[in-house]
Amino acid sequence: MKKFEIPEIKIPDDFVFEWPEKHIKTCITYWFPKLEGLPVPKTHIIKTGITPEEQIRYADCDNIMEDKIQKLVTDIKTHADDLGYPAFLRTGQTSAKHEWKDTCFLKDDQRIRYQVDRIILFSCLVDMIGLPADVWAVREFLPLEYAFKAFDEMPIAREFRFFIEGGRITHEQPYWPPDTIKDPDTDDWEYKLAEISLLDDKDALSLAYEVADRFKDDEGFSVDVCKTINGEWYITDMALAEYSYKWEPEK
Ligand SMILES: Nc1ncnc2c1ncn2[C@@H]1O[C@H](COP(=O)(O)OP(=O)(O)OP(=O)(O)O)[C@@H](O)[C@H]1O
Ligand SMILES: [Mg+2]
Repeated sequence: MKKFEIPEIKIPDDFVFEWPEKHIKTCITYWFPKLEGLPVPKTHIIKTGITPEEQIRYADCDNIMEDKIQKLVTDIKTHADDLGYPAFLRTGQTSAKHEWKDTCFLKDDQRIRYQVDRIILFSCLVDMIGLPADVWAVREFLPLEYAFKAFDEMPIAREFRFFIEGGRITHEQPYWPPDTIKDPDTDDWEYKLAEISLLDDKDALSLAYEVADRFKDDEGFSVDVCKTINGEWYITDMALAEYSYKWEPEK
C-alpha cells in the first residue's frame, strides 16, 4: 500500500537527481564543527550515503535503500546507548519537531526504526522538493527550561533565534511566534509564552555574538540558542539566514 498519493511521474532515463546547493551550509556537518569549544549538546554525526534518488524513490514507496536504513538504525542505537536516554535525533537539516515523540524525541530504543521512517517521510514532503536525509545526528538531550508543552507533547522552551551577518547580530526574535502554537497543554499558555519570550539574559546575547564572530566571513546565518533548567545557554541549530523563518515580535 502507498504511504501517500503522489501522481505518477515518468522519470527520464538521463534525469540527474541532486539537491539544491542551499542545503550544504544549512547541514549540521557545515556549521557544527565551527562551534567547537562553545556550549553545544554532545553530538554524534552519522553519514548514511543515502542519495537523492534513493530518497525520492522511497517517498514513492520504492525503498531501494533498506540496507542503509537498517545500518542507520543500528548506528543511532549505538550512539543513543552511549549518550543515554532520552536522546535527540535529527537529520543534518531537520528534526520534524512538530511530531516530537514520533520523530526527534528518542525516549528509549524501542521505536528507533519507526522514528527514522517518520523523519525520512517528513524530509521527503517538506520544502517543495524535500530535504536531504543523508546526514543524521544523535544528540545529548538537553534539560531545557520550558513553559508548557504543545503539538505532540513538545516542550516549548526558552529559546531565541538570532540572525547574524558580517560579525554582527542583525535581528533577534523569540523562537515561537504565538500564532504557530497548536494543542497547548495549558489554558494560560499565552501568558507563559510571553514570559519565556523575554530576552532578559546577557549570556544568550554573548553567545550569539561569539557565533557571529566565528561566521563573520560567511553568509548570513540564523542561530538558535536555548536555556537549560541549570541556567546555561546552548546553541542547538543554525541555518542559512535566507532560508530561516523570520518574524517581527509585537512590541
Ligand atoms: N539536544 C536537544 N535536547 C533537547 N531539546 C532539543 C535539542 N535540540 C533541539 N531541541 C528542541 O527541539 C527543537 C527543534 O530542534 P532543531 O532546531 O534541532 O530542529 P529543526 O527541525 O532544525 O528546527 P528549525 O525548524 O528551528 O530549524 C528546538 O527548537 C529545541 O526546542
Ligand atoms: Mg533547523
